[in-house]
Amino acid sequence: MRFAGRVDRLGGKGAEAWGIHFRGVDARRRGEDVILLSIGDPDFETAPNIVAAARHGLEQGHTHYADIQGEPRLRQAIAGYHGRLTGQRVGPDDVMVISGAQCGMFAAAQVLLDGGAEVLLPSPRYVTYEALFGAAGATIVDVPLRPERGFHLDPADLAARVTPATRGIVLTTPNNPTGAVMTRSEMEAVAELAGRHDLWVLTDEVYAGLAHERPHVSLAGLPGMASRAITVCSLSKSHAMTGFRIGWVVGPPAFIRHLRRLVLCMLYSSPPFIQDAAIEAIAGAQEHQRHMAAAYKARGQLVHRLLGQSPHLACHRPEGGMFLMLDVRPSGIEAYRFAEALFAEERVATLVGDAFGPEAAGHLRLSMVSDLPELEEACQRILRFVARHAG
Ligand SMILES: Cc1ncc(COP(=O)(O)O)c(C=O)c1O
Repeated sequence: MRFAGRVDRLGGKGAEAWGIHFRGVDARRRGEDVILLSIGDPDFETAPNIVAAARHGLEQGHTHYADIQGEPRLRQAIAGYHGRLTGQRVGPDDVMVISGAQCGMFAAAQVLLDGGAEVLLPSPRYVTYEALFGAAGATIVDVPLRPERGFHLDPADLAARVTPATRGIVLTTPNNPTGAVMTRSEMEAVAELAGRHDLWVLTDEVYAGLAHERPHVSLAGLPGMASRAITVCSLSKSHAMTGFRIGWVVGPPAFIRHLRRLVLCMLYSSPPFIQDAAIEAIAGAQEHQRHMAAAYKARGQLVHRLLGQSPHLACHRPEGGMFLMLDVRPSGIEAYRFAEALFAEERVATLVGDAFGPEAAGHLRLSMVSDLPELEEACQRILRFVARHAG
């Protein structure tokens, strides 16, 4: 039997990188003393008021099809939340509720990009983008985010890659895997370029609530950008709701019209009791969210301080999000070997940077999804390992 040619574009290097993680999960299930710094799923529980809202929704019979675009009350809440995060004022009609940011990015790519369209994609980048834009038939054009710039964008690198086939730019801020938070001037440079070449800008802002080094800047909030900015966000990370699969896309009216038709034939709607939980997450008490954001910041600072003690490691200071990039090149150990041996000898699971793009070669991505004592223990193990093997 024959499959669509598209299936060949659904893989990508990202898949291989998870080997250590899956072995780590298995070992942990067997009761072994493994520390998993390999995944981006919050270790916090979803706040009880959010869980209660989902339960209440179920009890109220919110178990049928919902509004295709999302329940108006949720879209109203998202419009306000989006305004606070991005500075762009929108109404409920500008919002499409969707099953998480991943699904939002996928759907947006389908609506924006024809086969052969070029999309400028900064690298290192989130592992699923390759398959996501590949599935749309787009041609990915890598734009380097260089470690020596703290993985910040050099607008000249972006400008140099624009061709007549370029249709869009994709940004992730705060970034996974790099932990960088784009500056206002970087974003203004992107806005100028997008305006000049009439490009879409698709921004993945799933970590927007977790920026701490500087305020989160969204392209959508910059003057004149409303007609070309597509903002994708979710409650997965900010509210520890990865399993709820709820997020949204905000964009101009014609884009939302097309997206609505795509959702009609793809999802039909998002579960209404999950939407009840999302309303509570956005409109209810925010203490838990603030606590988590502060915890990620403190964790990043701790790991940066501890690993920074080793002359054999160079640690990038996270500016937001849930990840930290550890440059292991000073140790003289190749990153794959480092990660494998670290897991074998010290039982710390990490993700090798290469999976996120060539600019992350020689790095490991560490997830801040353990509490401070466990992170401290992980750092001691890494320091012990590197002291044993470096040089
Ligand atoms: C940059 C980025 N975008 C999207 C996602 C997926 O988010 P969601 O759970 O909302 O689909 C992740 C998850 O790790 C991510 O890191």
